[in-house]
Amino acid sequence: MSRLKLSTTSWTTQTAFIMAATGSAVGLGNLWKFPYITGENGGGAFVLVYLLCVLLIGLPVLIAEITLGRRGGANPPQALSNLAKESKASKWWWLLGLNGLLAGCLILSFYTVIAGWGVAYFFESLSGDFINISAKSVSTNFSSLIANPWQLAFWHTVAMLITVYIVSKGVKGGLEKAVNIMMPGLFIILLILLGYAASTDAFAESFHFLFYPDFSKLTWQGVLVAMGHAFFTLSVGMGTMMVYGSYLSKDYSIPRAGLWIALIDTLVALIAGLVIFSVVFANHLHAGSGPGLLFQTLPVAFGKMSGGWFFGTLFFALVVLAALSSAISLIEPAASWLEQNWGIKRLKATVILGLLTWVLGLGTVLSFNEWKSVHFIGDRTLFDSLDFLTTNIMLPLGGLLMAVFVAWVMTQQQRDDEMEMPSPWKDFYRNVLKFITPTAILIVFIYNLL
Ligand code: TRP
Repeated sequence: MSRLKLSTTSWTTQTAFIMAATGSAVGLGNLWKFPYITGENGGGAFVLVYLLCVLLIGLPVLIAEITLGRRGGANPPQALSNLAKESKASKWWWLLGLNGLLAGCLILSFYTVIAGWGVAYFFESLSGDFINISAKSVSTNFSSLIANPWQLAFWHTVAMLITVYIVSKGVKGGLEKAVNIMMPGLFIILLILLGYAASTDAFAESFHFLFYPDFSKLTWQGVLVAMGHAFFTLSVGMGTMMVYGSYLSKDYSIPRAGLWIALIDTLVALIAGLVIFSVVFANHLHAGSGPGLLFQTLPVAFGKMSGGWFFGTLFFALVVLAALSSAISLIEPAASWLEQNWGIKRLKATVILGLLTWVLGLGTVLSFNEWKSVHFIGDRTLFDSLDFLTTNIMLPLGGLLMAVFVAWVMTQQQRDDEMEMPSPWKDFYRNVLKFITPTAILIVFIYNLL
């Protein structure tokens, strides 16, 4: 039977693909989540495990996922069904795609809530609220924002509307251009902040906290969080990279693309961590203060530095842009599935998806105030439960199955068609994907069940 090649759009240039994929990878995961989970899990040892997970699990799966997308040539469920047919494998592989679409919508539901915090902070910074602000008032300011469900719901709505608007415009219609300006901008601002952090007395302490492992602080739960985060931060395990890969032309090297995406993403996270912990230690704040960390530290730094109003406003603008270029990639797989397989117009498809995830997101809004003590999975709030379920379960599971498909179901010939690598690397990659990646994911899973 012939394959259904449904992704007919493609990126204008190969750099546009790198930009869009990096735009997806670099987001709240790097600027907001990485520092706060590192703080909660004691620093260095956690960072080391995270880096290992990126190298041995995240990067191999990233390359595998783009490969599945380009060869499958369609949205995730259809791509997998095409590939399964080609390899005479079980037709049920399409469910792996469905798991991804579901995970994407669940992640987006809390992602726009946090992106909303960024929008709120952008306006606060713009109006000069952070000039000379004390660490204490920054923290009170944050607590009062999240205590107010109406305010959170408002900013969540704003973030969701922008996301839906961009996705409804299609792949090329603006996204490509936006990331081309945004990513270099983000880098420059981060470097300026790094310069500021290096000038504080606490920089050495921050460096030590991030890069000197103290294994007594590491738990198996922490290892699971580090592994989940490797998936989350690289946007792998759910089909984002698959659908982006389906828009990629044949002549581009997937392994090279994967290396660039992983490298840039990791650098951004480490720089963000260095900056944030410098501010934490310089102001005697608490490293393990949870999801509020970014919002309770950086305004203090901006309030003190010269030109802080300008850089602060610019920084939060970039947080929002980084979040949006990731948010759009979270519903793109589902949107293209509704469009390609169900014949639903893109505008209608994105509005339906946006509405569903918006309603679900209200649960996350409430989990910070009214439902603070309502627990779902274990002693987790709804926000923590959704984060745990998607990041620590659904993404690693999705990634595991993708690795299995590329390494065990596809033939060497098929792999060679899609990704040329010089010979020693080819064998190395195949063995990592075949044995190391799946085993590592399983070990972390099993230890956490015990
Ligand atoms: N990687 C993004 C971040 O770090 C979030 C994200 C976008 C994502 N698309 C994804 C996470 C797909 C998992 C799967 O903020």
